[in-house]
Amino acid sequence: MKRQFPKVHDLAPLMKFKKPEINGKKRRLDSALTIEDLRKIAKRRTPRPAFDYTDGSAEAEISISRAREAFTDIQFNPAILRDVSTVNTGWDVLGAPVALPFGIAPTGFTRMMQTEGEIAGAHAAARAGIPFSLSTMGTASIEDVKAANPNGRNWFQLYMWKERERSMALVDRAAAAGYDTLLVTVDVPVAGARLRDKRNGMSIPPALTPGTVINALPRPQWWIDFLTTEPLAFASLDRWSGTVAELLDTMFDPTVTFEDLAWIRDQWPGKIVVKGIQTVADAKAVVDLGVDGIVLSNHGGRQLDRAPIPFHLLPEVATEVGNDTEIVLDTGIMSGADIVASIALGARFTLIGRAYLYGLMAGGEAGVDRAIEILREQVERTMRLLGVVALEELTPAHVTQLTRLAPRARTAERV
Ligand SMILES: Cc1cc2nc3c(=O)[nH]c(=O)nc-3n(C[C@H](O)[C@H](O)[C@H](O)COP(=O)(O)O)c2cc1C
Repeated sequence: MKRQFPKVHDLAPLMKFKKPEINGKKRRLDSALTIEDLRKIAKRRTPRPAFDYTDGSAEAEISISRAREAFTDIQFNPAILRDVSTVNTGWDVLGAPVALPFGIAPTGFTRMMQTEGEIAGAHAAARAGIPFSLSTMGTASIEDVKAANPNGRNWFQLYMWKERERSMALVDRAAAAGYDTLLVTVDVPVAGARLRDKRNGMSIPPALTPGTVINALPRPQWWIDFLTTEPLAFASLDRWSGTVAELLDTMFDPTVTFEDLAWIRDQWPGKIVVKGIQTVADAKAVVDLGVDGIVLSNHGGRQLDRAPIPFHLLPEVATEVGNDTEIVLDTGIMSGADIVASIALGARFTLIGRAYLYGLMAGGEAGVDRAIEILREQVERTMRLLGVVALEELTPAHVTQLTRLAPRARTAERV
């Protein structure tokens, strides 16, 4: 092989020096190409108890890892030679339009993850044209969230407390503020065992122990934000000092039944959706009560461990009740492809919990924008590559669910 000295004029076109981005946050967020990238940035920047509270789930964390695995274990079946130059990612959900087939799930204690909290989520949702859900355990008030997303859709998530009048006072406030949908969460009769929180000694508000101080040293920005903004307070309850599990078990009513659900339905003027459906039988039972929608969810794996995988339940639930109610799905969504697959198998909508919170912890409001942008690009690209230009065109034939886990046949029924 004949060699030669490189000449300067040959090298010049190869040298591409980009103008450095001086805004550190923008640089950081632009470098994230996936939700997993945002998660890694979030982990670096957030004190361990707060990051683990968000990232972790219950017991051995099997529910969440199986839910994510179920999304990995699919095959997409594309159609070729379609004109996919323009693609529409919106349609109507629960009686009003959404620009994307996902919305922000209700999450508690959000300002503890990053001080901009729910308001950042509501602003980002407003910009993206998607619903924002405020949790009963939220750290911004019903009215402040409405003010942050005045023209968009706000949903309120209800936990029924032992003191019912207080829960229902919140429901009245949400109705008065113009929230259009009530999500009634039914999978927390008692708190799940979040072992990471126990191991970290996670408390509300975060305690300053020698361990947290050492962990804080490389994460000064979080602490500066935390100590120089309004103290963490709950939108809907008085100050609390203790662990999350203690708080949940003190407040939540473990006696709530189907009759209570029917009663709540009669109190609420808007759409009502039951969040935390985990079997076909329960899906049918709540649909018989006349609810407008159900969320197939195991609470992001934070309650019952080894729970049914919502994405695996979806096809059968869609067959059984898909014509009578709107099916929303969450738990484990880390990519736009997961969302497209869910719509194809019969979901009308999906919710993102951690995907939004990783963005929030990685960069406040701009980080939530980035998370939504990543998912939006993935949704659009996946649809185009499947040869569809509208959500209505997605069908079960576009997705094959591969089985890693299948129930063992029961050999003999016990008598
Ligand atoms: C940190 C955190 C707090 C949550 N708090 C609530 C809550 O207050 N009420 C509720 O109904 N669900 C809550 N959830 C569950 C979410 O609404 C949603 O079901 C779940 O996050 C979906 O799974 P994903 O995180 O994999 O997207 C919470 C989830 C997380 C991660």
